[in-house]
Amino acid sequence: MLENPKNITEIREEISDEELTSFAQAIKTRYGIDFTNYEKKSLKRGVARLITKHELGSLVGLWAMILRDREFFFSCIDDLLVNLTELFRNPEIWLKLKNDVLMQLKDKPTLSIWHAGCSTGEEIYTMAIVLKDNALYEKATLLATDLSTQALGKAKEGKYSSMLWNKYTSSFQKYKNIGKLDTYFEVGEDHVIVKDFVKKNIDYQKHNLVQDPMPKKFDIIFCRNVMIYFDDVLKMKVLNLFYKALNKDGFFIIGYYDMLPDQSKDLFVLHDPVTRIYRPK
Ligand SMILES: C[S@@+](CC[C@H](N)C(=O)[O-])C[C@H]1O[C@@H](n2cnc3c(N)ncnc32)[C@H](O)[C@@H]1O
Repeated sequence: MLENPKNITEIREEISDEELTSFAQAIKTRYGIDFTNYEKKSLKRGVARLITKHELGSLVGLWAMILRDREFFFSCIDDLLVNLTELFRNPEIWLKLKNDVLMQLKDKPTLSIWHAGCSTGEEIYTMAIVLKDNALYEKATLLATDLSTQALGKAKEGKYSSMLWNKYTSSFQKYKNIGKLDTYFEVGEDHVIVKDFVKKNIDYQKHNLVQDPMPKKFDIIFCRNVMIYFDDVLKMKVLNLFYKALNKDGFFIIGYYDMLPDQSKDLFVLHDPVTRIYRPK
């Protein structure tokens, strides 16, 4: 145990941009995972979180551990990234989906939906519930992808703490004030678990937006609160991937805090500024 360990902010401030870039480069060379164009401030926060959690003192300590121990590195990804998410997050989006987006797509013979950066699954289960609620689930296929194996494992399990149940129920009621969220979950004392009929049409795959191709086409792509960690160069790379993977009559949905570079106007036009829904150009 270190004496008077520094706090996360102090550690973060000690890391220079150059050190961070070399660190990201070393990870890329060793493990093929590319964080080099991640937004520096949030990556530094993630690195500082790891140094504190494992009492490694400084970036040098973390660097040595990560390059030495592959398993340790993969267990670190969740701390490097932030995977906060929730069921029916921003209820107005789900209402807009129901009343506008799904109305426009409902007559298609099939519906394919991709949640890129799905984290622990709450967002894709929200979509699945909205599809069920609108009798569109049976013709839909949903793809949940994330870089983090741990987050994806939790997504597959669909098991969430009951401590959040009241919050989730209240968000659900803003989407729909009749009907019950527990139709879709086994509600236990400590946990709630997504029922199998909600999971049935969901495929879960590890996928790195920065490096991996996406050969399929989709009617709706969600990428909410993922690009906040990317710089503009990386955002454009990923936006091109989404553009190619989106059907011409499709919809692209980003998070409230995701800022798109100006160049993205060549690819997408804003459909609804409130819920940050775009359409391909
Ligand atoms: C804040 S969560 C967003 C969860 C969900 N989309 C939402 O808004 O509720 C961000 C997720 O992006 C994932 N992520 C970060 N970089 C990624 C990348 N290069 N490829 C795929 N997923 C990535 C993280 O692992 C994390 O689970």
